[in-house]
Amino acid sequence: MYNVGVIGCGYWGPNLIRNYTQLNRSRVKIVADLDRDRLSHMKKLYPSVETTIDYMNIINDPEINIVTIATPVSTHYKFASEALSAGKHVFVEKPIASSAKDAESLVNIAKKNHLKLMVGHTFIYTAAVKKMKEIVQSGELGDIYYINSQRLNLGLFQKDINVLWDLAPHDISIILYLLDQEPKWISAAGSSNINGFIEDVAVLTMKFNDKLIAFTQVSWLDPDKIRKMTVVGSKKMMVYDDVQPTEKIRIYDKAVEMPKHYDTFAEFQYSYKYGDIIIPKIDGKEPLSTELSHFLDCIEQDLTPMSSGEKGLEVVKILEASDESLKNNSSLVELCNNQFLLN
Ligand SMILES: NC(=O)c1ccc[n+]([C@@H]2O[C@H](COP(=O)([O-])OP(=O)(O)OC[C@H]3O[C@@H](n4cnc5c(N)ncnc54)[C@H](O)[C@@H]3O)[C@@H](O)[C@H]2O)c1
Repeated sequence: MYNVGVIGCGYWGPNLIRNYTQLNRSRVKIVADLDRDRLSHMKKLYPSVETTIDYMNIINDPEINIVTIATPVSTHYKFASEALSAGKHVFVEKPIASSAKDAESLVNIAKKNHLKLMVGHTFIYTAAVKKMKEIVQSGELGDIYYINSQRLNLGLFQKDINVLWDLAPHDISIILYLLDQEPKWISAAGSSNINGFIEDVAVLTMKFNDKLIAFTQVSWLDPDKIRKMTVVGSKKMMVYDDVQPTEKIRIYDKAVEMPKHYDTFAEFQYSYKYGDIIIPKIDGKEPLSTELSHFLDCIEQDLTPMSSGEKGLEVVKILEASDESLKNNSSLVELCNNQFLLN
């Protein structure tokens, strides 16, 4: 039985606490939060859980094997580095840290101490995203031309990070998982409409090579909740709509081709294919349960988590490069040996 300490029980922490409690291999021993009201709410829900306003009571507890962090991003590095240094396995919410330097340092501390470090890239643990990966890998879509994703809603506005750091880790982690490669160049455009200094609407472009490109649009300022990703290939196209309760993925047998032979420009006609639409069956298991169960498997069997510290670092490098691009009028930023080369 793993003894878990959870730091942060605001909006997201309680979901982690509930899922650890439901797994039969772990129990939440202590929960820390600065807000006493949140702690008393947790105590009402889980009377046997200890509560504290001082997270050091978790770090210093010799019975705790796993520290789980669901606090604002600016605190992730401090809590995660202290927990790893105290010999605890660490699960930290996305994004793993607020700079690539800090993320890299966490990866190194975990490696040095032979501990597991995992980041909460929750969507790669959903059955729908796993299905999309299978479809992309099988070659059914042909060569991937581009991916377009949108994650829009009204709120929740964050105080310490912009909308890209808040929402885009989901899209970036899904896209890197599907394509199994990192982008070479990125650019970002955004605007701050409400408070004048934190971008609340943004678009990130990631270029993987001369052809393959991905666009991600994120917003805290949209009337509709939209979580949609379109993957366009040379043979077929796929749409993932996470807001749909059941039919989350549709595969469209649609494509466009250039004619192989034509004599004059007048004869030239693109050929459009309009075929069937297939809706694969998707299993409805809660992704957080799959994610935390995978984390426990990695600890038990000494495996590398699918969303390892290194994967968290890849995402943070892209977010850091997006800040650079935003500061420089959406310039193209080359991701090259941890340096930004503005083009
Ligand atoms: N994986 C997902 O799908 C998902 C979804 C939502 C949020 N998140 C992530 O979860 C993290 C928390 O987000 P949230 O929306 O729950 O934020 P939140 O503001 O609702 O909750 C954060 C909690 O941390 C507590 N806290 C802050 N400093 C602390 C300290 N020094 N010691 C103890 N507690 C402290 C706050 O009092 C608050 O209760 C973020 O990293 C966010 O990106 C992940």
